[in-house]
Amino acid sequence: MEIKKIAVIGAGLMGSGIAQVCAQSGFEVNLMDVEQAFVDRGMSIIDKNLKRVVDKGKMSAADAEAVMGRIKCFLSIPEAVSDVDVIIEAVFEKMELKKNVWAEIDKAAKASAILATNTSGLSITEIASATSRPESYIGMHFFNPVPVMKLVEIIRGYATSDATVEVIKALTGKLGKIGIEVKEAPGFVVNRILVPMINEAIFVLQEGLATPAEIDEGMKLGANHPIGPLALADLVGLDTLLNVQQHLYEEFGDSKYRPPALLKKMVRAGCFGRKSGKGFYDYT
Ligand code: CAA
Ligand code: NAD
Repeated sequence: MEIKKIAVIGAGLMGSGIAQVCAQSGFEVNLMDVEQAFVDRGMSIIDKNLKRVVDKGKMSAADAEAVMGRIKCFLSIPEAVSDVDVIIEAVFEKMELKKNVWAEIDKAAKASAILATNTSGLSITEIASATSRPESYIGMHFFNPVPVMKLVEIIRGYATSDATVEVIKALTGKLGKIGIEVKEAPGFVVNRILVPMINEAIFVLQEGLATPAEIDEGMKLGANHPIGPLALADLVGLDTLLNVQQHLYEEFGDSKYRPPALLKKMVRAGCFGRKSGKGFYDYT
């Protein structure tokens, strides 16, 4: 199957990054969000990232302009998806929202389209049940920041066809990423390991064992992590992190996955990390 055009639904942290790498790889991209301000914010993140690459002499200004020119913005799902070959969804990590979005996509997408969700760990099978074509449905899990991180987890739902897996494996390669095929389970592979580690760092902070800077320094110098777990939490988004951890807790029913009260309190206070300006560190 030849892919020419890709729709990305949700223009937040991940959607903007996914749209950027798709456009950088030569695909036409339809980027959709619910408000003009949100697509504008997504486009300005892409513009800033490309300028950084141009400033480093790794891309010409003309090429960066061509990348921006391949991305068109939409506020309506039917308009964004009706003429594309692949749809990648990156809206908030909420099952009901994702199912509603996919039911709408299903009505407007071409019969041949491949449907992919960037969920951090929700059931691919359950999201696919909102569509009439679960065989064309798959998990395509990118990592943050998308332009930098090499991995894509490729996750089959119960009914995902081999043909769908092959199309997404090939697309992953064309985007310059490395895919690993993993079985469906809460949090898949990487988040099943990574998110509880971040969660434990928040318990360490909550118990007053060390400051955020000391915890992060500890994991950078003592475990060779590129950034500490609390800085990573701020990068991922504390709201997203809480949703992922809560899902692990609910699905496994094991108290080791419980989210700390401090994380819940910070999310309730609107401290979402970098994207809101405040998290374990201040970005204002
Ligand atoms: N967007 C695009 N490019 C970015 C970027 C961003 N937000 N942040 C940094 N970069 C680029 C820089 O331009 C730089 O590029 P060059 O090598 O071409 O010069 C490169 O990344 C390194 O950046 P810096 O030197 O400024 O900073 P750094 O050395 O701290 O690296 C990092 C930044 C790569 C993000 C590094 O901090 C890192 O690896 N952090 C951990 C990231 C991680 O673990 N992500 C997974 C999160 S979990 C997830 O995504 C799954 C989920 O479902 C929640
Ligand atoms: P985000 O909060 O930055 O962006 C989500 C975007 O979805 C927002 O712009 C919002 O306006 C938009 N949205 C909400 N409802 C919508 C709708 N009905 N139609 C279209 N757009 C809608 O979140 P994010 O960090 O980009 O996460 C998006 C998805 O990617 C989640 O499923 C998350 O779990 C997953 N993910 C996140 C990370 C991460 O590190 N943040 C990494 C991998 C996967």
